[in-house]
Amino acid sequence: MSTLTILEFPDERLRHCAEPVSFPDDRLENLIADMAVAMYAAPGIGLAATQVNRPLRLFIMDLSKEQNQLQVFVNPEILENQGVTSSEEGCLSVPGMYETVERSEEILLSWCNQQGERQQQRFEGLEAICIQHELDHLDGKLFVDHISRLKRDRIRKKLLKLKTQSEVA
Ligand code: NI
Repeated sequence: MSTLTILEFPDERLRHCAEPVSFPDDRLENLIADMAVAMYAAPGIGLAATQVNRPLRLFIMDLSKEQNQLQVFVNPEILENQGVTSSEEGCLSVPGMYETVERSEEILLSWCNQQGERQQQRFEGLEAICIQHELDHLDGKLFVDHISRLKRDRIRKKLLKLKTQSEVA
């Protein structure tokens, strides 16, 4: 069991803009390990620190079926965007809801690894989409901010209703 709880929309803490990590930070190793447990248990393919109420600029991602290729991105920054693509997205903080979202097709990303060393790489496809989704979390943004207000309100109402029902039950 993970010690971390994943916050759910419309929790206001998901709206915090996360602070950059300063190296060395000896809390990182434990936080990343706990976040991985929470993400795999959910199960999900990405998780940002903001989602577990740790407002630090850090997210993890694993697109492998075997859940054995964990990637860690600290202080990530998109340097270049190219093209446009749209796909259906979901989010562990917006459980059970899926909507089509437009993103850049390809990105050039700069980030630090766990040791604080800067990396740079181009990403495309699902990796690029997932990275943009997780980076949004660090700025307090959710995928529902990319869709119409009407749809977003509908999702908010549905989730609040489900929450009330589970609290009553
Ligand atoms: Ni998400």
